[in-house]
Amino acid sequence: MSNSKIWKGNSTFILAAAGSAVGLGNIWKFPYMVGSNGGSAFVIVYLFCILIIGLPVMASEIIIGKYGRKSPINSLKKISIDFQLNKGWKYLGVLGAFAGVLILSYYSVFAGIAFSYVFNIFPSGLENPSKYSTNYFSSFAASPLKLILWHSIFIIFTCFIVGYGVVKGIGRSVSFLMPIFFIFIIMIAIYSSLIGDIDSTLFFLFNPNFSALTPQVIVSAMGQAFFSLSIGMGAIMAYGAYIPENQLIGKTVLSIILLDTFVALIAGIAIFPIVFSNSDLMINAGPSLIFETLPVAFYSLPFGNIFSVLFFVLLSIAALSSSISLLEPFTAWMEEKFKTERRIIVCILGLLIWVIGLGSIFSFNIGQEIKFFGFNFLEGLDYLTNNIMLPMGGFFIALLTGWVLPKSFLIKYLNIKKSLFKPLYFSLRYISIGAILLIFLYSAFL
Ligand code: TRP
Repeated sequence: MSNSKIWKGNSTFILAAAGSAVGLGNIWKFPYMVGSNGGSAFVIVYLFCILIIGLPVMASEIIIGKYGRKSPINSLKKISIDFQLNKGWKYLGVLGAFAGVLILSYYSVFAGIAFSYVFNIFPSGLENPSKYSTNYFSSFAASPLKLILWHSIFIIFTCFIVGYGVVKGIGRSVSFLMPIFFIFIIMIAIYSSLIGDIDSTLFFLFNPNFSALTPQVIVSAMGQAFFSLSIGMGAIMAYGAYIPENQLIGKTVLSIILLDTFVALIAGIAIFPIVFSNSDLMINAGPSLIFETLPVAFYSLPFGNIFSVLFFVLLSIAALSSSISLLEPFTAWMEEKFKTERRIIVCILGLLIWVIGLGSIFSFNIGQEIKFFGFNFLEGLDYLTNNIMLPMGGFFIALLTGWVLPKSFLIKYLNIKKSLFKPLYFSLRYISIGAILLIFLYSAFL
């Protein structure tokens, strides 16, 4: 593999993977999931899943990517040939590539809404806050045309970057965008805690309340852990293919997980104090939570319009650095398979994703009532990808590294102290696989 296809320096891979992990999942989805799933019970299960399931699965993905140095599908194929395994392992990559396309189809709808806030707030400077309250969001959601416009814009941006290639397109941009992002989200959290109701927030987030713990909460928390860490579909595996030869995987995984978890919790601290101190805002508002909450909150702030625009710019960037990782596995595979220009591939995939996205757009408005098994299109897709496809991907990834591949392979690639390897290996073989299986079976028969 030529040097142009290796991340420059050790931090670029961490930032790119953190860029993939930190996204709408942390700032938009985590707070609303916590809000609608009973607060601390969800948070505790979530943190448990991150540590017990997320860490070993992410390490496994990176190892497979680094070994294969190709798209997830072909890295898995290479592993199955080199270790004389069943040929079917490559279908794990296929499942992931499709999951990425499906997730991106609705991810882009919400990212498009975030984009639109930047352009709507900027010219008007928020002089009319009511425009950004609940009514604004619902009128936006009621308009298929507006949603389609911003969904299209977001997909074009994503395809553009992926068309440029991972290392060139992504490596450079994350290196300077992610640090700005971290500083800014911390500033907003400090501001919120000062003006809002931080006591209720901390109580809601961290005071154990196990009465709210239902099977549904556990399943959702696990789905959210997979989604937030970008694991289970090969995104991190695809990035792992470009990791420098001498980079230590153990430390790298820990850094990515800590960054992602930190941003999710900080996003909660940025958003809940405002929700709790404003009786018009509902903690269990669901997906619309931040789109209704933050603009109202910013209005009362000095230079609120500038903050507001900055916030949504950063949210859009975070979404973009995630969406590219959703598109990368399929693109990389098609590039290898058809030996075609990346630019052509992303146009085809972009169009496909755009069309699937229409289903989610209509779930907000004209298709709201069209339901299969009680889910509308968007809810169904969300459930299928996060609660079924990602955990299933994670299960097989853990099965491959924990049970099928030789232990020596893992020791060599992980390259961590024996005292750390032992619990990690145990957790990979028994706890993570067992937990995924249990939760999965439970949700299937719920
Ligand atoms: N983790 C991202 C977020 O939190 C979304 C994402 C990017 C993702 N790549 C992924 C989710 C791969 C699942 C799988 O917003």
